[in-house]
Amino acid sequence: MQAASFISWILLILSVIGGNYGKQQLPPVILVPGDGGTRIEGKLNKPSHGPHVTCTKVTKHYYTMWVRIFSVLTPAATDCFVANFRLIYNNKTHTTSYPDGVDIRVPGFGNTESVEWLTDFHISKKLVGYYAMIVQNMVKWGYVRNKTVRGAPYDFRKAPNEMSGYYSQLSKLIEETYTINNNSKVVLLGHSLGNLVILYFLNQKPQEWKDKFIGSFVTLAAPWGGSVKTVKMQASGDDMNIATVKALRARSVQRSMPSSAFLLPSDQFWNKTEVLIQAPTRNYTVGDYKQFFTDINFPDGYLMRKDTENLVNPRKPPNVEVHCLYSYGLPTAKTLVYTKDEWPDKQPKPINEDGDHTVSLRSLEGCLRWKTLQKQPIYLKRFHGIKHLDMLKEDVVIDYIKSILVK
Ligand SMILES: *[C@@H]1O[C@H](CO)[C@@H](O)[C@H](O)[C@H]1NC(C)=O
Ligand SMILES: *[C@@H]1O[C@H](CO)[C@@H](O)[C@H](O)[C@H]1NC(C)=O
Ligand SMILES: *[C@@H]1O[C@H](CO)[C@@H](O)[C@H](O)[C@H]1NC(C)=O
Ligand SMILES: *[C@@H]1O[C@H](CO)[C@@H](O)[C@H](O)[C@H]1NC(C)=O
Ligand SMILES: *[C@@H]1O[C@H](CO)[C@@H](O)[C@H](O)[C@H]1NC(C)=O
Repeated sequence: MQAASFISWILLILSVIGGNYGKQQLPPVILVPGDGGTRIEGKLNKPSHGPHVTCTKVTKHYYTMWVRIFSVLTPAATDCFVANFRLIYNNKTHTTSYPDGVDIRVPGFGNTESVEWLTDFHISKKLVGYYAMIVQNMVKWGYVRNKTVRGAPYDFRKAPNEMSGYYSQLSKLIEETYTINNNSKVVLLGHSLGNLVILYFLNQKPQEWKDKFIGSFVTLAAPWGGSVKTVKMQASGDDMNIATVKALRARSVQRSMPSSAFLLPSDQFWNKTEVLIQAPTRNYTVGDYKQFFTDINFPDGYLMRKDTENLVNPRKPPNVEVHCLYSYGLPTAKTLVYTKDEWPDKQPKPINEDGDHTVSLRSLEGCLRWKTLQKQPIYLKRFHGIKHLDMLKEDVVIDYIKSILVK
């Protein structure tokens, strides 16, 4: 073979490889966060200081309200935070609003920043990193922030019944992301509550729209049938794993969130014979929510449950390709046992079952029920011993996500 033709032959091979490589477009990804998984900003112009004279009454600008570590370092600061961050439920209109003089906005729609990091200083991945680990890896695989990987944050305190504005924004974001990426179908990647938010959205969309715009739905640690943890939030509050937070102080925020009611264990996943709460004077099952909310002196909670209990239905599949990722093998509350002294204001002792420490296995595997209900494939990937939030951080999970996205 002559040198010249040999070289042109090599060049041809290289151009074929290079050309193929160039066409191997990464599918664009939109990240939808879970409960607590995005920054929320507030601006205050309140009629009074609120619970303490030290609480700020007026701010000039929007500031990061969630997460602001300083907000929960002392009991008084926590009270100020709670007063501003809780929602006010109107039991006639069945909608929530912000406290008097508090304005709220969710920054960074379309971008990844506010779902990667919960504070504007990127100190600790463990404490304030959310999608950061996944996105940093995606960038190594060739993704570009705000173009091929984007974020769709929302006010995670609300449930889908109050999110119509978000859903029209999300729809536009998906279409725009498809267009700016050479008409490539979009992958929706959700964590925890974010997956139910996506499922509700997909359930409302026409099939032709989904066939055109959605490549697949990748679900991390989705509580398809709810979580017993939210029962505890309602009864006694949860300290959100922050050492300086007293669960009981956080309870009024947690109770005020329709998303907490939305995530209560579903009667499609828990049997009415199973005890969720063992209290001194009676036991409560999924069939006893009315009595439960009456007994904890929070009757609006039952109305919020009624508003949200049928928003998603385990027999209504998304009708797009699904990759269902979750972990099991960790003790996860099944029944909360309260002594006379603990009920309902102190923390109960759990009786556990299998799960990811936050969500029971039976709820995580709810995606499998769609196998016979939709044409599109459902791929299952189970991990062992990875906690609910660590599904966003562990290398084995991130490697698996890579195998879905990078062909
Ligand atoms: C609705 O809220 C009002 C004011 O908080 C309260 O007095 C009333 O009992 C509530 N109604 C129901 C049905 O919970
Ligand atoms: C993405 O958008 C955010 C928010 O607007 C911005 O801070 C960040 O620099 C952008 N990143 C890139 C790579 O453009
Ligand atoms: C867009 O897609 C077309 C058809 O598949 C392809 O020929 C073209 O190279 C792509 N452009 C980019 C920028 O990827
Ligand atoms: C609930 O438990 C009862 C008694 O164990 C059983 O007969 C029934 O099938 C269960 N129902 C569901 C929905 O699993
Ligand atoms: C609650 O259920 C437990 C077992 O699940 C049982 O031992 C207890 O007697 C029940 N308590 C009441 C008040 O019914």
